[in-house]
Amino acid sequence: MSDSTIESVLSEQRLFHPSEEFSQQAHIKSTEEYQQIYNRAQQDPESFWAELAEKELDWFEKWNQVLDWQPPFAKWFVGGKLNISYNCLDRHLKTWRRNKAALIWEGEPGDSRTYTYAQLHREVCQTANVLKQLGVQKGDRVGIYMPMIPEAAIAMLACARIGAAHTVVFGGFSAEALKDRLNDASAKLVITADGGWRKDAIVPLKDQVDKALANQSVPSVENVLVVQRTEQDVHMEAGRDHWWHDLKAGVSAHCPPEPTDSEDMLFILYTSGTTGKPKGVVHTTGGYNLYTHVTLKWAFDIQDTDVYWCTADVGWITGHSYIVYGPLSNGATTVMYEGAPRPSAPGCMWDIVEKYGVTIFYTAPTAIRAFIKMGEHHPKSRDLSSLRILGTVGEPINPEAWMWYYKVIGNSRCPIVDTWWQTETGGFMVTPLPGAIPTKPGSATLPFPGILADVVDLDGNQVATNEGGYLVVKYPWPGMMRTVYGDPDRFRRTYWEHIAPREGQYLYFAGDGARKDEDGYFWVMGRVDDVINIAGHRLGTMEVESALVSHPAVAEAAVVGRPDEMKGEEIVAFVTLEGDYSAGEELEKELKQHVAGEIGAIARPGAIRFSDALPKTRSGKIMRRLLRNLASGQDVSGDTSTLEDRSVLDKLREGS
Ligand code: WT7
Repeated sequence: MSDSTIESVLSEQRLFHPSEEFSQQAHIKSTEEYQQIYNRAQQDPESFWAELAEKELDWFEKWNQVLDWQPPFAKWFVGGKLNISYNCLDRHLKTWRRNKAALIWEGEPGDSRTYTYAQLHREVCQTANVLKQLGVQKGDRVGIYMPMIPEAAIAMLACARIGAAHTVVFGGFSAEALKDRLNDASAKLVITADGGWRKDAIVPLKDQVDKALANQSVPSVENVLVVQRTEQDVHMEAGRDHWWHDLKAGVSAHCPPEPTDSEDMLFILYTSGTTGKPKGVVHTTGGYNLYTHVTLKWAFDIQDTDVYWCTADVGWITGHSYIVYGPLSNGATTVMYEGAPRPSAPGCMWDIVEKYGVTIFYTAPTAIRAFIKMGEHHPKSRDLSSLRILGTVGEPINPEAWMWYYKVIGNSRCPIVDTWWQTETGGFMVTPLPGAIPTKPGSATLPFPGILADVVDLDGNQVATNEGGYLVVKYPWPGMMRTVYGDPDRFRRTYWEHIAPREGQYLYFAGDGARKDEDGYFWVMGRVDDVINIAGHRLGTMEVESALVSHPAVAEAAVVGRPDEMKGEEIVAFVTLEGDYSAGEELEKELKQHVAGEIGAIARPGAIRFSDALPKTRSGKIMRRLLRNLASGQDVSGDTSTLEDRSVLDKLREGS
């Protein structure tokens, strides 16, 4: 964040109340009601969640223990049996929702499809039977590498139906990144498509899968199931690759849901951290189902007449929790879009709002900034009067973007729901409940009922009002991640040991800095670790550094984030070269391309700075803070006392 933004955030006094009419019709109607629910949940979180679990979900067998907490390992609804695909589909078929639109899909170029709950159920059952035919069994892992097409959601639900865990890999990730994730999860099957549409071009997904699997480099994968989407020629390996439409033809649409245990693994989703390779965040069935259901219902005030559109990709947690599971569990209509806002189609999002009468729209600050740049005549020339709630997620939203969103898109009548949460938390943690909590531009407001969030120092002491500290959660919640796949120790180290447990109380360390104001509102400032947030996507500096040093020209690399007006942050890489190579524009281009090829386009550095040496402390640690300041053009003369060789800094300055 720039200094001026921080100042404007600190002086932010504006308060926006929902209209009386809005509040009266909302699930949670007033600050008092929120406060009452929050207090009740705080006093007895277990009975709070148990009551909701009973009321909101269908269970095949009831649990015998609400919470088993062996810090840092939690089990929720122990012994309970349910199936999340049943809660997302079957139970609605017994109601008038049977023929309600479950999934509305807007494709590129110009395609669209709508599935009712009955139709989606049929597709999921058939696909589940195909998975079984291919030998997928309960407990197996299935990789999903798909464009934003209905089959992505169908594949996820089909896995859930038979008790297999999915691991969705964002279609923008490279073959290399896909390979690592499939190997870490020992996936038995990969579901993909020939290609997908992205910004007016075809993303060759099947080619990437072929590259990832070449030379038996993912030995666990036995079969690949391929959806035909873009219809270009692709290689189909005999015995391994199968067309989705071939295998589905004539398959029974009867597939009883597997009665999975509350704690059976639902999915693994990889996310970046400070060190090492991306970690496999594990979510299980019962707690996750409940948490995504209730958070969506209250924070987006889901009603049966809503048309809800979240613009994320299913490759991220937002897509899992709030395109697929949360909305469908609630029996809502969820919109899915294959494209993205782009200058070549500046009104595309507003056309979709108008076309389907979208009532709830959920996107990221980076998209909002892109809308601002494309100009307000695009939204203004569409009828957006159907909208009633606007959401944001992924990074701190600057008050200017918040105000624009509120005024231009929401016509100053739609509450802005700024949701702070993470892949690890499964669902919203700090968020307004739009009928109950007045909003302030730039603040995610107050914790969700049952979430004991706070801002503390490294000793776990609450910091003073308006003072910066670490965002923590003091009690387990149903949607929390259960472990890092295959590495429980890393789970403990990453999230539970930064702040020492005291008197048996363990604090979940989110990795974000925040402060609380005099009203108890949370202001999330951004990551306090070496995670960079580019356009709402998380990348670890170490991942990018490893990608850089895997290029023969690079001897050493240090990567930092610098503020970017559009993307929030962008990557700046400081690089030293091997003897035979010389710095220049060509090599800069090549290295950027190399990183994109190793990880994915989102990791492409914005700038590469060549240097003879990197600034290090006397003990040999790279001085990232100094590099960060250099990258963003700040004065660095103050932080050089521990620098080993001052001339390094002078040279870096000259080069900037
Ligand atoms: C990190 C989590 C959760 C879905 C999207 C990202 C940042 C997320 C907000 C927000 C300020 C936010 C945090 C967090 N973040 N939402 N509303 N305000 N910061 O999920 O990839 O797991 O990233 O995104 O830094 O730790 P993710």
